[in-house]
Amino acid sequence: MLSKIKITTLCENSAPYPSDGVLGEHGLSMLLEIGNKKILFDTGAGFTLLQNAKTLNIDLAKIDKVVLSHGHYDHTGGLKDLLQITGPTPVYAHPDVFQNKYHLQKGKEPRKIGIPWPKEELESLGAKFHLTRDPQEIEKGVIITGEIPRIESEEGEKGDLFYKNPDGSFAEDILRDDQAIILEGSSGTIVLLGCAHAGLINTLRYASKLTGKSKIYACYGGMHLVNASAKRLDYTVRELKSFDIQKLAPCHCTGFKASCTLFQAFKENYLIHTANTVFVED
Ligand SMILES: [Fe+2]
Ligand SMILES: [Fe+2]
Repeated sequence: MLSKIKITTLCENSAPYPSDGVLGEHGLSMLLEIGNKKILFDTGAGFTLLQNAKTLNIDLAKIDKVVLSHGHYDHTGGLKDLLQITGPTPVYAHPDVFQNKYHLQKGKEPRKIGIPWPKEELESLGAKFHLTRDPQEIEKGVIITGEIPRIESEEGEKGDLFYKNPDGSFAEDILRDDQAIILEGSSGTIVLLGCAHAGLINTLRYASKLTGKSKIYACYGGMHLVNASAKRLDYTVRELKSFDIQKLAPCHCTGFKASCTLFQAFKENYLIHTANTVFVED
């Protein structure tokens, strides 16, 4: 069981109030501190990581490990700047993190939304990639899920996310690379989400399976419910309640309407989550 966990959100869509120089951007990055170990979960889109760390007196050179939730630019865009500060650093991700990812919308040019640099360039800056689909305990009590099984039919809806094949054709991207971090805290299981492209409930089910515990104590991060129907939101609230969640802090790609629904359902257990939100577990 982990004690003394500190999670600081370094990059998020919203700046806090008062901001004191901490900026918002479309992206997510959370610094996880356990004892003297520092793990960075995602790196934001590249505009605010260094700025916010400096404002908050956080020394990015001391980061021991980086975990990427998936390959989208809003989670990986700060990686190059970060490596220039950290030097050689292990980076944990799924092998599909380097897929050539796109957002396709009718009547618009395909938009590149993948990791902005080739693997070799990041390696030349010191990234030591550990690419695997399997769950791994990267520190005692800190598990990265790897690829998350998609078992919930309610979460299988088609989106507008694609990847480009070497022959130039596009294929639907279900984001197999999407993964979460599970912390085995003394109060219970804490799940950190990047975008939850695998589905919020799929992710929590897998966290529950990997820990062998039916309850989830806390869940912080992007819940990707921005386009969710009322039916999907009803289902999500019902399933979330079944995990007996005590702290729910959605952010990033959760969406305004979904956040309102979750706030109504969780009230005092719902926490506002912006850049410079700090979660502490003793
Ligand atoms: Fe994403
Ligand atoms: Fe995202």
